Amino acid sequence: LATTVAIAFAGYANAADLTVGFSQIGSESGWRAAETSVSKIEAEKRGINLKIADAQQKQENQIKAIRGFVAQGVDAIFIAPVVATGWDTVLTEAKEAKIPVILLDRTIETASDDLYLTAVTSDTVHEGKVAGEWLVKTVAGKDCKVVELQGTVGSSPAINRKKGFEEGIASASNIKITRSQTGDFTRSKGKEVMEGFLKAENGGKDICALYAHNDDMAVGAIQAIKEAGLKPGKDILVVSVDAVPDIFKAMSEGEANATVELTPNMAGPAFDALKAFKDDGKAPPKWIQTESKLYTQADDPKKVYEEKKGLGY
Ligand code: AHR
Repeated sequence: LATTVAIAFAGYANAADLTVGFSQIGSESGWRAAETSVSKIEAEKRGINLKIADAQQKQENQIKAIRGFVAQGVDAIFIAPVVATGWDTVLTEAKEAKIPVILLDRTIETASDDLYLTAVTSDTVHEGKVAGEWLVKTVAGKDCKVVELQGTVGSSPAINRKKGFEEGIASASNIKITRSQTGDFTRSKGKEVMEGFLKAENGGKDICALYAHNDDMAVGAIQAIKEAGLKPGKDILVVSVDAVPDIFKAMSEGEANATVELTPNMAGPAFDALKAFKDDGKAPPKWIQTESKLYTQADDPKKVYEEKKGLGY
């Protein structure tokens, strides 16, 4: 099957002549902004003409943009799918136009995997599991009520980071998730939802830890914890995902405890896979997995903050 797909999509001009349309979700988080910047940098390095369409968090805008890219006859389409379902029709249209699609940072549920060439993503279940296991180790048997800030409803990282975290804490009967709600991956909603959690949990005194599906929601929640008169990182442990500069700033100030890194460079491996595909016509692996690394207070967060800020995206 993979070979059939490869033959259908093969036969490009040189990589430097490629035009790639990228349907980006929007700018909901610091991580997302970094991914957009890195994609431009990686395209420029390779002389690829990258057209980015910002969907402002809406699947309907993504579908419109993809149809636009098909009409323009781009050489490939990259999609960061805001939610996991509802892509089969538009991906079939791209396939019929012989335009390969590469998924970036999020996965989809589809009737047929041959609707896309490859997906460049992390193992988002693993990210949640790493965060959960960190908490198990950190609380070391003490009773711990956790509040959870979920990402965008229906998105693959929200579904998988929840599942992974639950797996990570499954062996610890002392740890219980008492509240779990979406903060849509944004700082402002993270703060707003955390304010509700704090009110509902004895002004926050009953909360032992916050698990946020991304750093931006954690940063918003940290603000809410401070405004409630508690110390984030101490009274309430904070663990999240992304490893953006702002969470290292919070960690260096003792206001956050751990984060799992998600590289913003999804486009680089995607461009390389596309080029290799163009050169030899062979399909890349269906999943190009990026690394996930846990950072804690032991990793000199101040230094990491300076390094990450220095990257300029
Ligand atoms: O899909 C990746 C997630 O999307 C990031 O963890 C989050 O910050 C972003 O909004």
